[in-house]
Amino acid sequence: MYKDLKDKVVVITGGATGLGRAMAVRFGQEQAKVVINYRNNENEALEAKKEVEEAGGQAIIVPGDVTVEGDVINLVQTAVKEFGTLNVMINNAGVENPVPSHELSLDNWNKVIDTNLTGAFLGSREAIKYFVENDIKGNVINMSSVHEMIPWPLFVHYAASKGGMKLMTETLALEYAPKGIRVNNIGPGAMNTPINAEKFADPVQRADVESMIPMGYIGKPEEVASVAAFLASSEASYVTGITLFADGGMTKYPSFQAGRG
Ligand code: NAI
Repeated sequence: MYKDLKDKVVVITGGATGLGRAMAVRFGQEQAKVVINYRNNENEALEAKKEVEEAGGQAIIVPGDVTVEGDVINLVQTAVKEFGTLNVMINNAGVENPVPSHELSLDNWNKVIDTNLTGAFLGSREAIKYFVENDIKGNVINMSSVHEMIPWPLFVHYAASKGGMKLMTETLALEYAPKGIRVNNIGPGAMNTPINAEKFADPVQRADVESMIPMGYIGKPEEVASVAAFLASSEASYVTGITLFADGGMTKYPSFQAGRG
């Protein structure tokens, strides 16, 4: 537990499912005030709100599409209106789908870039604007991926979005460090969430992914949520511009394990 997270106002995009929900619940345990953004499934968002409250926090749900500028502006304004301020912005909403790159449509490319990269930019911009105007040493956490550094055939749009996020975060961190505003990425490996449900339901595909993880298992959403809590807390007060990987060692060249190569 991080004492300074109590009563902090934390916005999480795509906060109703998967990693977003696990982070919402973790911030609930920290007795924070959580703003759960969701795109269209209100029931999932209400379930997440209930879990946050049962964990000891407060929560509101706010609909909105992160690719729509007005929705992101509304999200931050609603957080401030309902809870009085903003301390932590977590740009977590993301999508992915596999397509051979030479067959990838412009619409599909744009949808992934707009959601994963432009959505995170809009969330970062609105949060930082509020921090600067109100002299708040807040922080931004962007949900990147091991694919900000590992190329990923069939997912060129996804890898480009997360690679872009790496330099976006580093640039924002550098630009706003003098104001005490911190900006960091989390880089999850393979996690057990709805984005992977179909893949991990197939035992062959699941075993294939597990073989690429030195620690040997697919990560639990709580193992990313704990990283978010750390980065948001004052225990990480001197940490900015990094990607903190939570990947069971996936980025450490597992094919070289046991002295191969
Ligand atoms: P998920 O599919 O449960 O979460 C994605 C969330 O984003 C959903 O709630 C979805 O409704 C929301 N979303 C999608 N488009 C949106 C939009 N335009 N506006 C608002 N919300 C939107 O899957 P998961 O795994 O929890 O994904 C969360 C983030 O973690 C994503 O950015 C993903 O790229 C990233 N990630 C996930 C990994 C994994 O293995 N699960 C690994 C590395 C990164």
